[in-house]
Formats: sequence, structure tokens, C-alpha cells
Amino acid sequence: MAHPLSVVVLAAGAGTRMKSALPKVLHPVAGWPMLRHVLAAAEALRPEKIVVVGPPGREDVARAAAPHHFVVQTQSLGTGHALKAALPALGGSTADVMVLFGDCPLLTTASLRRAVAARRGRGRTSPAALAVLGFRAADPTPYGRLVLGPTGDLERIVEGKDASAGERKIDFVNSGVMVIQGTLLPGLLRRLRNDNAKGEYYLTDLVAIARRAGHRCAVVEGAEEEFLGVNSRRDLAAAEAAMQRRLRQAALDGGVTMVDPATVWLSADTRFGHDVTIGPNTLFGSGVEVGDGVTIHGFCYIEGAVIGSRSTVGPFARIRPGTRIGSEVHIGNFIELKNTTVADGAKANHVSYLGDGDVGVRANIGAGTIFVNYDGYGKWRTMVGEDAFIGSNASLVAPVRIGRAANVAAGSVITQDVAADSVAFGRARQVDKPGAAPALRARLKARAEAAKAERAQRDAHRRSGKQEA
Ligand code: UD1
Ligand code: MG
Repeated sequence: MAHPLSVVVLAAGAGTRMKSALPKVLHPVAGWPMLRHVLAAAEALRPEKIVVVGPPGREDVARAAAPHHFVVQTQSLGTGHALKAALPALGGSTADVMVLFGDCPLLTTASLRRAVAARRGRGRTSPAALAVLGFRAADPTPYGRLVLGPTGDLERIVEGKDASAGERKIDFVNSGVMVIQGTLLPGLLRRLRNDNAKGEYYLTDLVAIARRAGHRCAVVEGAEEEFLGVNSRRDLAAAEAAMQRRLRQAALDGGVTMVDPATVWLSADTRFGHDVTIGPNTLFGSGVEVGDGVTIHGFCYIEGAVIGSRSTVGPFARIRPGTRIGSEVHIGNFIELKNTTVADGAKANHVSYLGDGDVGVRANIGAGTIFVNYDGYGKWRTMVGEDAFIGSNASLVAPVRIGRAANVAAGSVITQDVAADSVAFGRARQVDKPGAAPALRARLKARAEAAKAERAQRDAHRRSGKQEA
């Protein structure tokens, strides 16, 4: 951006309406804390500095703010008070200051740019002391109302609790996005008072203060769906739904086929290659990368995984963090993968748990295979060499290595390494007794009949006992 800009994100509010031990701005939307969404929208503006204002004693909020500057607002005394706390971190820069609220996860960079342009003026519009992004709210109740003057400029913002009956009817409201001329900001902030219904220092009062000093305040209108401020769990659910709609649309536009988009759940960082097909009822947690030509059948739960090109997954697969799947791999139904690499062309098609392992190129993992990775104390790795064949229902007790092109017999419990090209049995040998079946059947039949007769006798005895009593 040609003119310098600093961004301050307010994230220190108590968030009481969430009724949560977790700070409001850390509640996730599409797999990311709300704060991270706001930061991503701000980062795309390439400001010279981003400062996050957080509550005291919350390492988790500071971590979510990284790598940006983090300052503490020692007491939640209002949005204006929070911005004041950020001033020293701005280091006397004369750059414009954009204020964002950490509870507005749907903000887009495009709208933020419009607010900057409105503050700076363009063509025949002169610069303003500050600019605010507003929107028409279906229900204005939770928002500050924008009071406009005869020219359409902003005169003041009045919070619902302080508004007159007439002002409460205004449906043009404050999104919370404000861009302020940097050189004016310290002076304006100094004049903030807390003589209002909540006894807080309202950021929104900067408008009336600037007007009294004779400055112009601009307003730009945006779409409601972008400015939802999350104050309650209901709002959080609404933000999630809106974000999911947005992410699904972006995926479809990017060339992903979804049989039923409304049932596919995405994370903000889900990445798709070309020609990916996704069946219904699949959830992508954060950190998933899907390669070209991949098909994911329905009912999968995937997080923290890379899926290589032309592989197929599911239906009903659970892929957990640390999984790396190569190209042309088949992961079938009821497979759980965790912290495991599956190399190109390998197959695990039915009902298996593969945790903490490495599966070699073209290896075949039979139905019901278990990588026994945990002994109650430590987690250990299972290595399956390239072209190895693991028979059905084998347990590979880690740490263990199955050599290249080795063959593990079905039903084996393998506790020792298997050499390349070996056949390993880890089960009792089968014994055949020719012609023994008829005698076995006679014996089993006689035993069942004797037991039945004994039961009948016991019942008769009980019944006669009752009659005598
Ligand atoms: C605020 C605005 C309102 C606007 C709405 C948009 C004010 C006075 N009101 O109301 O005009 O329509 O957002 O969503 O600005 N925060 C702090 N420190 C504090 C208080 C709040 O950092 O002392 C942070 C919160 O963490 C939050 C943001 O500021 O991220 C907004 O605070 P919140 O309490 O949600 O304000 P609203 O009542 O939603
Ligand atoms: Mg809010």
C-alpha cells in the first residue's frame, strides 16, 4: 500500500455473553480462532504494523496474535480504552490507523481497502479525519447506530443502550471497522469520556469528538454478511454457517466437485488441487492439503493431512494429524490413519488402524490390520517395506519392521522384524483330522441333548415344590 497503515485489532473484551472460559476471540470458526481470520484479512493489506490488544494473563491470546505485536489492556474498560492501550506500540507513527474487532471473523480485505480509500479521499471526495464501515442490519439491536448528517457524512455513533427511541430505529449500523488519520488519533483519544450507559470508553465516540473539532467523518456501506460481530454462541453458529458457505463457494469456483456442498465442512486453510471430487458428509479439519484428481468418498473425517494426486479415500475413513498419503494410494472404508506415511500406490482398503507407521510403495495392507503402536507408556513405529503384503487381521506390534516384499500371514501377531522377501507366520499352525467331523457332531449333539434334559428335570422339580407349598 502506497500510504503507510497500521492496524490495531481489539481482542481484550471479557466476552461475557459467550458464557465461556475460553476468550471470545479464540472460539473457532472454520477451524481457526476468530482472531486469526481477522489477522489474515489485515495481513493482506501489508500494513507496516499490526498490534493486537488482548486481556492480561492470557498466553493463548498472545500466541494466537503472533507474530504480531501484542499489548495488554489491563482492564476491560471499553473499545476506546483498548485502542488507547495500543498507542505506545504504534511508536508515534503518523500512519493511518485501522481498528478492527477480533470478534468479526467474516471481514474481507476488499472491504478494508474501501474503508482506507474513504478515509484518504479520492477524486472529488476530500480526505476525512476518519472513516467507518457501516451496513444495513436485519436486526440492529446489538450494534451502534450510525447517525448521518444532511450530506450523508457521519455525525456520530450511538450505542443501543444510549440511543433514543428514534435512534434505535436506525438500521444503518457500525461494523466496528474504523480508519483514523494517524496524526489526529492521540488528540481525539485524549478527549474520550465514559459518561454512558455502560460506563465504558467507547471507540465510537471518536466520531462526535472529531466532528466537534470540525473534521469530516466518512462512512462506506458494506454487506451485512461480512460484518457479523460474534457476541454469543448463537452468533458463533451463524458465523460458522456463513463462513462455510463462503469456503464451499470458493472451492466450487476453484474446480472442486461436491456432490452435496451443504454437507461438506471445510477449514479456512483447506487446500485443493484440480479435479478433486468430494462425496457427501465429509469434514476437513485444519491443515489438509488435497492433490490433483483425488476422490474423497462420503463420510470422511480428515485433519492435518496431505493427500497425494489421484488417490482415493473413504467412504468412512478417519485421517488424523501427521498423515502423509502419496499418489495413487487407496484408503478404503473404516481405515484410521494417524501420524503415518503411506507411499505411492499402496493400498489399505478395509477396517484397519495404522498409527505411527510408514507404509512403503505399493505395499498392500489386508483387512483388519492393526499397527499396535502403544504399549501403555510409549508410542512406537511400524515400518512396512515396499511391495510387502500384510495378510488380513494381522497385528504388527511396534517397534517393528516388515522388509521389502515380505509376506505376513493372515491372523499373525508379529513382534519381531521380518526380513525382505520372507514369509512370516505369527499364529498357531492349522491341524486337519480327516473324517473326524461326524464323530465330533455326534458328541456335540449328545452334550446339547443332555443339558436340555437336565433343565427340563430341574423345572419339573421346581413346579412340584411350589404345588406342595
Ligand atoms: C461494538 C461497537 C458497536 C458495533 C459492534 C460491531 C463500541 C462501543 N461498540 O459493540 O458500535 O456495532 O461492536 O460488532 O465500540 N474489546 C476490548 N476491550 C474492551 C472491550 C472490547 O479489546 O474493553 C474488544 C472485544 O474483545 C471485541 C471488540 O473489542 O473483539 C468489540 O467489543 P464488544 O464488547 O464485542 O462490542 P459490541 O458490544 O459488539
Ligand atoms: Mg461484539
